[in-house]
Amino acid sequence: MFNYLKLDPEQCEFIPVAGISDLPAGERLFLEIDGQPIVIFNLAGDYYAIADLCSHDNGPVGEGELEGFEIICPRHGARFDIRDGRVLALPAVEDIPAYPVRLNDGMIEIGLPLND
Ligand code: FES
Repeated sequence: MFNYLKLDPEQCEFIPVAGISDLPAGERLFLEIDGQPIVIFNLAGDYYAIADLCSHDNGPVGEGELEGFEIICPRHGARFDIRDGRVLALPAVEDIPAYPVRLNDGMIEIGLPLND
């Protein structure tokens, strides 16, 4: 699956999705962009965004328990790295999308590939 983090930021369109104050440290924010469910994490002031859709069976992976940078899918226990969407444990075998996140003018912005 394509990892948006590999995109040149110059080729991304950054979309404001929430105010920085809407996502305190240790919290998660669930949203949908163009029909794609996304979850954003604030880990002690560092922000990460992945698709909220497990590559094993479309489970709501964003609701899973977090161990460091590893999220554990609540459905069957697959693990992913929230920094880049990389799959770390079965039963999933495919990565999930990860998105660049930046803070700009008090807002959290998610980078999506520019449509050409
Ligand atoms: S749906 Fe996530 S491990 Fe099965």
